[in-house]
Amino acid sequence: MQSLIHADLSPAPMSRRTPDQGFPKGWYRVADSGELEAGKLASLSCLDEELIAFRGADGEARVADAYCPHLGAHLASHDGAIEDGRIICPFHKWNFDAASGQCVHIPYSDLPPSPVGLKVYETREIDGMVLIWYHPEGKPAEFEPFASDIGDDPGAWTLFTTMSGVSTAPFRDMLENLFDTAHIEQLHRSASVPEVTGVERTPYGMRVNYRTDPENTDVAMTSMEMHFTGISLLAQRFVGEAFDTRFLHSYTPIDRERFFKHSYLYVRETGSAEMTQAIGKAFAERFVFESEQDYRVLNYKKHIEQPRLCAGDGPINQFRKYAREFYC
Ligand code: FES
Ligand SMILES: [Fe+2]
Repeated sequence: MQSLIHADLSPAPMSRRTPDQGFPKGWYRVADSGELEAGKLASLSCLDEELIAFRGADGEARVADAYCPHLGAHLASHDGAIEDGRIICPFHKWNFDAASGQCVHIPYSDLPPSPVGLKVYETREIDGMVLIWYHPEGKPAEFEPFASDIGDDPGAWTLFTTMSGVSTAPFRDMLENLFDTAHIEQLHRSASVPEVTGVERTPYGMRVNYRTDPENTDVAMTSMEMHFTGISLLAQRFVGEAFDTRFLHSYTPIDRERFFKHSYLYVRETGSAEMTQAIGKAFAERFVFESEQDYRVLNYKKHIEQPRLCAGDGPINQFRKYAREFYC
């Protein structure tokens, strides 16, 4: 029998769930540093664009438009290659300088009188992530991303695990979840809601400090802080009497409908392999459990511009005010 009733709930199109605000300006993770090999063109889709990523002869991670401005070949198709610092289009073999994106050679013609080139994104490599700067109006980077303290002493840390997935939640509502205190008890059934003690604007975005009561948290947490780079990267620091962990989360829109989330969990070496493993396992399991609960709701929700908030809802509007700064 045909029916209007959904057998399974599926996310409604974003056009019905959030106003089209474009993507916020910011730094977006596109790859792990280790995923880019010298001399190889990788292809990826994000921010409603098709891109290529590669490591030039100078070792720099670079990201550029995937389509050749000549007649639109995908530069990573067929035998498209990067050689001697030049990207060579597979179609008519135009050469593009890998650093600037400018066309520097056409095998069968002089260069056209007006310069032609690929768009090359500003990139940074921080904490093992390749990040690109995106601005809806194409403006240059306005701030630098937050770098965790893992880089200060990499040998002291174990990358316990990475976790990734695709979400259909409205992009701008996702980090709001961290400020929605009521859902921590109601959805997650978690007893302790850490109290925000300070919100500080920083060059990269925002730092949030929490009050923790080791007696009252199930893991005896002594300190907790979060660093937001815009609204696309989040670094969390959790410290307890017996552990020191970092979560690095990244959120990258694939297109209007979906974004890719990727998290790294680092655990500071304890000197005992079993102990380090046990800490990592406890944090990873808790994170997976809670994020699955979140996304069972977030993936279908609508962005309500004027929510009807009540006492106990947490500093949602404060977060929204911050998030608005990144939309143009
Ligand atoms: S389409 Fe790239 S050289 Fe012609
Ligand atoms: Fe949550």
